[in-house]
Amino acid sequence: DGDDGYRLWLKYESVSTASVKAEYLKYTTFITQPGKGEILQSASRELQMGLGKLLGKTVNVTNSSGGKTGGIIFRIEPGADTTKPAEGYQVQLSGGNIVISSKSENGILYGTFALLRHMQMQLPIKGLSIASSPKVRYRMLNHWDNPDGTIERGYAGQSLWKWYELPERVDPRYTDYARANASLGINGTVLNNVNASARFMSQEYIAKVAAVANVMRKYGIKTYLSVYFAAPKTLGGLKTSDPLDPQVRAWWKEKVAQIYKEIPDFGGFLVKANSEGEPGPQDYGRTHADGANMLAEAFQPYEGIVVWRAFVYKADPNADRFKAAYEEFVPLDGKFDPKVIVQVKNGPIDFQPREPFSPLFGNMPKTPLGMEFQITQEYLGFATHAVYEAPIFKECLDSDTYVNGAGSTVAKVVDGSLHGYARTLMAGVANTGNSRNWTGHPLAQANWYAFGRLSWDHQLSSEQIAREWIALTLTQNQKASGHITALMLRSREIYVDYNTPIGLSRPWMGVHFAPEPWQNKGSRPDWTAVYYHRADSIGLGFDRTVSGSNALAQYRPQVQQQWHNPDQTPLPYLLWFHHVRWDKKLNTGRTLWEELCTRFYTGADSVMWMQQQWDLAKPGLDLQVYAEVADRLKVQRREAIWWRDAWVLYLQTFAKQPVPTGFEPPK
Ligand code: GCU
Repeated sequence: DGDDGYRLWLKYESVSTASVKAEYLKYTTFITQPGKGEILQSASRELQMGLGKLLGKTVNVTNSSGGKTGGIIFRIEPGADTTKPAEGYQVQLSGGNIVISSKSENGILYGTFALLRHMQMQLPIKGLSIASSPKVRYRMLNHWDNPDGTIERGYAGQSLWKWYELPERVDPRYTDYARANASLGINGTVLNNVNASARFMSQEYIAKVAAVANVMRKYGIKTYLSVYFAAPKTLGGLKTSDPLDPQVRAWWKEKVAQIYKEIPDFGGFLVKANSEGEPGPQDYGRTHADGANMLAEAFQPYEGIVVWRAFVYKADPNADRFKAAYEEFVPLDGKFDPKVIVQVKNGPIDFQPREPFSPLFGNMPKTPLGMEFQITQEYLGFATHAVYEAPIFKECLDSDTYVNGAGSTVAKVVDGSLHGYARTLMAGVANTGNSRNWTGHPLAQANWYAFGRLSWDHQLSSEQIAREWIALTLTQNQKASGHITALMLRSREIYVDYNTPIGLSRPWMGVHFAPEPWQNKGSRPDWTAVYYHRADSIGLGFDRTVSGSNALAQYRPQVQQQWHNPDQTPLPYLLWFHHVRWDKKLNTGRTLWEELCTRFYTGADSVMWMQQQWDLAKPGLDLQVYAEVADRLKVQRREAIWWRDAWVLYLQTFAKQPVPTGFEPPK
């Protein structure tokens, strides 16, 4: 029967190689689970289910091995080495058993998933020795889900959370969601949109959230909520939401206490304030730190934290939005309560197909900065374009900020090793919905997977993650896997080429799907496409050097060095920092205009190459998955041509040059 994608990378298909299966059978005669901890129970259940499907056998759970061999033993090691994060684990062959050890139940669960991953890939047990611990402490998904079931920037159906049924009916799918996340090491989930409804602070909704949290808890996942900053006024009936007002502070304290009564392990709040029209402390002449610290105070008696977003910019057509977050937040460094983490988008604008890293990274040494990546493909073709995002995440994490000399990568800022942050965080804006296959496009599952794996270990490579995901999800046929890996690894560059080459950004408005580079009127003066690309009769691109906005000055000199000279700026970043003449010769030997045309045309044509790779993989694929992706690639091809033609025809009105020979002019 066909694969409907529901089981993600946890399919546990029957082990096909006889010798491997024989070895696995030898080491799976029992499971020893000490104690009755609910996360340990989840680990045992997962193993029983996994082994049942992989090996076709029923494995019993005991509370002691009684000196027997040939089983899987969970071993909690309390105390010992306090320098190691409690969630780390080891999976080893020891004394004739497979021993999964950790200082915490969470670690045992992660070790269990690691073992199951190992077995799904049919790797040998002989010499088994896996040791791993997370580099980042808070590894979260951010759901932009609304109480009415819609998802802001969601392309995989409606929300997974059925608020209208909760708390009485708890959809079994929540458990599968939790399993999928735990299998990657994700340990937090923010259930609702950052453009938050105050409704989530009502007793009615807290009870619903508690029912979801009860499921998450079993998989080591803490539940968080986005909050509406003006809730004391709109929900609490107070006259103000001023963070320095004693009544407002008391309201939040009580609210947080009320939440902890229902959800004793509540994770905390995520806050979008004074951003894109959302209320915030600045409405009362206060700072982001005043707002965040007020909420942090309410969390003092508990473990919860406050995640405060740095996604801010003013509706000013003459300012450079690129600079806004740095300008507002850097002066506040050192002013935030230790319970606050400031969450920063990877780039300075907004999840574009390619952005330079945000200049905030490295410039707030006294404030833990968390990473916010976007998994959902808001600017990456929704659910019809195949774009594997690990290279986007890695490109940012591997960027060198030079703040403490060479090697001061963004990853080292985020994992705390550079500035010694006590709390570290990586968040991904989720791409899940209630589609049967969770993500709409079957290949988009890989982006959820990649985010999770990188939030645990940012040193894994894009290729390693792709190969792993393909083996678990699509095929173990080597040839097929090679073609799909190639397709995935090139997909982002191909998308950039037909969509926003050479450092262009934001050629769309509104729903962020269709090309609208000509758009020069928006609901805000800065919400226009021309604001970003700056096409004119002379050239194209946003001058962010000293002769322009000088946003470059927000980076260290070594970074400025890479980008300040248009003759030396790598092409992927050229138009991010320079207004370049149409006839300027680039280092490819082509003029800007010719280079743009080359990118748009080869980018759109490369979708055909993706189609070929997919077809070559067909013999190793389930036919239903094959067909679904093949059809989506056809749509992608059509839409890539649409992007190409929209851009070329529009830019041609400024460049006033023909499309170079060899490329067919748009009809
Ligand atoms: C983008 C996105 C919005 C979202 C915002 C945010 O602008 O289009 O839908 O609310 O980012 O991250 O807050």
